[in-house]
Amino acid sequence: MEKIIVRGGRSLSGEVTVSGAKNAVVAIIPAAILVKGTCVIENVPDIEDVRVLVDILDAMGADVCYDRLTSTLKVDCSNVKAETPPAHLVRKMRASYYLIGVLLGRFKRADVALPGGCNFGSRPIDQHIRGFEALGADVTCNEESVTAQAENLSGNSVYLDVVSVGATINIMLAAVLAKGVTTIENVAKEPHIVDLANFLNAMGANVKGAGTDVIKITGVETLSGGTYSIIPDQIEAGTFMVAAAATGGNVLVKNVIPKHMEAVSAKLMEMGADVLEYDTDIRVIGNKDMRSVNIKTLPYPGFPTDMQPQAVALLSVIEGESRVTEGVWDSRFQYIEELKKMGADIEVNGRTAVIKGVSHLVGQTVRATDLRGGAGVVIAGLIASGETVITEIKHIDRGYERLVDKFKGLGADIKRVCE
Ligand code: EPU
Repeated sequence: MEKIIVRGGRSLSGEVTVSGAKNAVVAIIPAAILVKGTCVIENVPDIEDVRVLVDILDAMGADVCYDRLTSTLKVDCSNVKAETPPAHLVRKMRASYYLIGVLLGRFKRADVALPGGCNFGSRPIDQHIRGFEALGADVTCNEESVTAQAENLSGNSVYLDVVSVGATINIMLAAVLAKGVTTIENVAKEPHIVDLANFLNAMGANVKGAGTDVIKITGVETLSGGTYSIIPDQIEAGTFMVAAAATGGNVLVKNVIPKHMEAVSAKLMEMGADVLEYDTDIRVIGNKDMRSVNIKTLPYPGFPTDMQPQAVALLSVIEGESRVTEGVWDSRFQYIEELKKMGADIEVNGRTAVIKGVSHLVGQTVRATDLRGGAGVVIAGLIASGETVITEIKHIDRGYERLVDKFKGLGADIKRVCE
């Protein structure tokens, strides 16, 4: 089993380059199934979720080639068959549910195992299903899988009852080749939604309004191949920004879209860190006297739920009381037990974590309970005294490209070991 070992106490300094966005690429790779011809997708991060998607497309008959050195994926799905994607691969990740939207869109039929992914309590897909039904599909769902089929898919109006990234994306994917106009209201506005719309439009789709509350999709006959580059990962960038502040460091985070980082930058500044924005880079400088703050996670442009554990790790050593309220998921505090093992003083009341800053954390053996919880305990390890051993790092590998190497490049004493 691989582990990460961190010896804390070093201030991070230097430059780090952010990779392509996980939550964009996990939608854009399945979207290639809708395209006739070769898609060349650039800035694809080398993460486990990408490897699983490549294996799924390969198993379905796509011609797919991923060059890790150039971060470029070439994929031609012309020969993909209307078959069930391998369930054992689908269950390895959450975003495999986008296969329902694309297979329905292309073949008018999808039979896909229920997805896996991080465990945040209940993760329903009722809004996805409502969207498919509005387009004319019959959808049945059992404990194992989802089956959707339609004679024809026709554009319609859909109003989402909850702002859902996954439902917004899945309905877009099912609608791009449907007849007529689909209007989706109360949609998610995350940068990866805009990135998917830009990819689809680059391939010939007609998607308008991504990044606002209403997306309008006018169905087209076909999509054809082309080249597209994935946006930088907002959450990876935020993880390095918080780590820089937490270690009292001075780090230039390169290849970011500063606009996407506004909620994180604002909170770091409120805590007392210096955040300097350039065109495509952000410098974060931590200060000795940081202040406690309150945070509520919200859909974009609010403070991202995927930055919640990293922020809590930092706040755990800032004097005073901070309150962090989870506004997206029912349950996303599993990692807090791990921080408590390291000496953090945190109490969870419902959806709010009340953090009383301690003077220091102490290295311990802790688990990566999920992807971002894993990033949170890595940051805790960087600031703790002594050695922190992080187990179950498969969760981190799902979504961070070379996290350990990147922290090492910033001067951290961190390594992966295989035992
Ligand atoms: N929801 C419903 N019904 C639905 C769909 C969602 O009630 O049909 C609820 C969820 O239970 C949740 C809320 O709506 O309370 C938001 O869920 P959303 O659908 O937006 O989440 P998701 O699409 O499953 C994506 C990211 C997550 C990120 C959330 C919120 C991907 C692959 N995953 O999940 O990323 O936390 O949006 O921004 O894009 C991560 O990267 O670590 C991660 C978990």
